[in-house]
Amino acid sequence: MNWLRRASSEPLWKDEFSIHTADEKYVTRRQLTKFLVLTSLGMFVGNIWILIRSVFYRSPQYAEMEVALASEIPINGVKLFGYPTEKDRCIMVRTTDNQYVAYSQKCTHLSCAVYYSQENKRLECPCHEGFFSVEDGSVLQGPPPRPLPKIELENRAGVLVATGVREG
Ligand code: FES
Repeated sequence: MNWLRRASSEPLWKDEFSIHTADEKYVTRRQLTKFLVLTSLGMFVGNIWILIRSVFYRSPQYAEMEVALASEIPINGVKLFGYPTEKDRCIMVRTTDNQYVAYSQKCTHLSCAVYYSQENKRLECPCHEGFFSVEDGSVLQGPPPRPLPKIELENRAGVLVATGVREG
């Protein structure tokens, strides 16, 4: 019979090759199962990794730093300082007689420096008109996606001390 096949237009190697071109597109049940098992395994390992990280994650510890004397800032006055390092610029505002608030000065949109508008009583970013509440750092208007990180302050006998950073 082989001599008959050779006489046809099909080359001999095609008879011996087990996969036909038209069948290459098909995914076998075994291949699909293998893909699903490996994908599920990858996701399982990823979730375990996230779980382990969340269990052992500790928020960073910040050193305390004296920022200013409470009396040196007038009501509606501003003091700029660096915290936790000198490069991390922050802005402190005395909003009332005995209320002081401080935030990172870096806008959460594209990192321009925010300033305090006494006229509007809010923190404003000049780059794209992003406005933040001076009360809690939340976004009032504009493209910033998150509130400003808040600097935790303590008034210790008239000395304002930065004790930490709380992400908004
Ligand atoms: S950088 Fe502040 S609003 Fe865009």
